[in-house]
Amino acid sequence: MTTILIDARVDEARAVDAASTLLREGKVVAIPTETVYGLAAIITNDDAIRGIFTAKGRPADNPLIVHVANVADVASIAVVSPLAQRLMDAFFPGALTLVLPKLSHVSDLVTAGLDTVAVRMPDLAVTRAIIARAGAPVAAPSANLSGRPSPTTAQHVLDDLNGKIAAVIDAGPCREGLESTVVRIVDEQVHILRPGSVSRNDIERCINTPVATTVQDEELHRSPGTRYRHYAPHANVVLVDSIDEAIRERDAGEGPTLLLAPNDLALDLPWRPLSAASLYAELRLADSLHVKKIIVHCDEQVRTNEALMNRLRKAAEPRTDDR
Ligand code: TXA
Ligand code: MG
Repeated sequence: MTTILIDARVDEARAVDAASTLLREGKVVAIPTETVYGLAAIITNDDAIRGIFTAKGRPADNPLIVHVANVADVASIAVVSPLAQRLMDAFFPGALTLVLPKLSHVSDLVTAGLDTVAVRMPDLAVTRAIIARAGAPVAAPSANLSGRPSPTTAQHVLDDLNGKIAAVIDAGPCREGLESTVVRIVDEQVHILRPGSVSRNDIERCINTPVATTVQDEELHRSPGTRYRHYAPHANVVLVDSIDEAIRERDAGEGPTLLLAPNDLALDLPWRPLSAASLYAELRLADSLHVKKIIVHCDEQVRTNEALMNRLRKAAEPRTDDR
């Protein structure tokens, strides 16, 4: 299959037209969002949904997020409680995904057989226009090969999926760079299943109630994606919280080493700036340079960024397989 690349910044109308036509035909298309690029297929076509799992090499028991063009469309796939409506009013469009009771017509392939469906409205006008013109919501996981960092540029998508999908719509680098916050509402209490740029504080301010502080074991099982090892660069990732520790790690050797840090520590190592928006691009760059070890300096500001720390910890987990 030839993968076509369409730059929405050059001709937005053509991008919307081409992407929505391919989606209606049941093709798999990578679309930009403000968080990371997504791998989209229309939810009304099971073969198209299967195409997502095949292209990514994604386990079939890991459900997909459904992306809608309008707030009103959420009620066409899920039961919307008053609390869910409040969160949607505050954060849609944006980087918040709500796990809601699904309506029975939503395909089990999308939800991996769960009785809930994850829903999000992306904050990028071109993407909402594509979904609206496709005529139905689209399911879209991050557009990376399973086990690779999520893609934040169209080139990242091509690096993983060129020849395996119909098209990539390029809207430039993603503004947020980390995946959406995923929350589930249980007994009118909000549980964070995956932290993202919509923070615990943002949500608590909106609903005036504390958000569940830890992800329950049961909840972990309800968000199957959290069982898999994610965001995995080939290099060994080491998190340090002081410059002394960074120096010790540097002096331990272990081959080509890169420093990722919010500021230049002048450590006589190749240094790249660390931020939520650029983390995945940096992990991919390190892979392409065959770096063996990435030292990440987590200063106070990094440590208080729950979403960034969550992804860094996942990247630093010991390897359990060879992906
Ligand atoms: O920002 C994002 O969320 C990006 C862009 C493309 O929208 N998408 C994304 O999708 O990160 P994905 O598939 O890589 O991650 C979706 C996460 C997974 O951990 C999955 O297990 C969880 O959401 N999820 C999906 N449906 C669920 C459900 N019904 N219940 C619990 N967790 C669910
Ligand atoms: Mg993903």
